[in-house]
Amino acid sequence: MSDSLAWDSRYAAQPWMFGQAPNRYLESLAPRLPAHGRALALGDGEGRNGVWLARRGLAVTAVDWSATGMARAAEWAAASGVAMTTETADLTRWSWPEGHFGVVAWIFLHLPPEDRAAVVAGALRALAPGGLLVLECFSPAQQGRRSGGPRDPALLWTRPLAEAAFAPLEMLECLEGTVCLDEGPKHQGQAEILRGLWRKPA
Ligand SMILES: C[S@@+](CC[C@H](N)C(=O)[O-])C[C@H]1O[C@@H](n2cnc3c(N)ncnc32)[C@H](O)[C@@H]1O
Repeated sequence: MSDSLAWDSRYAAQPWMFGQAPNRYLESLAPRLPAHGRALALGDGEGRNGVWLARRGLAVTAVDWSATGMARAAEWAAASGVAMTTETADLTRWSWPEGHFGVVAWIFLHLPPEDRAAVVAGALRALAPGGLLVLECFSPAQQGRRSGGPRDPALLWTRPLAEAAFAPLEMLECLEGTVCLDEGPKHQGQAEILRGLWRKPA
């Protein structure tokens, strides 16, 4: 079974496994996010971050390779009357627009190193000048905790990794440490994360 089908099965078995509220870090950045323009939600699953960004007035593109997740996200966005386009696609093969998005949200999308490099390159390309990239992912210290995240340590994020990946951007903040997650049944309890905010030079 391909990984996208595995995610389809997970979303089919347990709807809203990461909840319907946005990621708390993304939400906390509300005062610093633009009120208008375009946003891209990477690996948006069932759409919780994309729908939140769209409710704030942004025209959102949500991309995920799970057709089940994206179908649920599209239905939710339509029922909420917000501007969100959903695309079922593998981000390592997506055709990234250039200089297009004022916000790119990379929330709990964990990829093998080669795929991560391809998606980093795509995200850097897709950001508009002055655009913001928001990242929250698990760090290696999460291994062994039951509050979520992949088992393969190669998929986890460290601060040096994030600094190198987003070196062409201006780092506004970057923190690695312990938080208390309360984001749906699959992200509950103390967790070790890496989070940060970067801006593409204008
Ligand atoms: C842990 S979930 C997080 C979902 C969402 N970002 C959230 O925070 O609710 C990871 C998501 O990444 C997606 N994903 C993983 N690899 C992907 C890839 N190569 N292309 C597109 N989506 C991918 C999965 O289908 C899944 O929906």
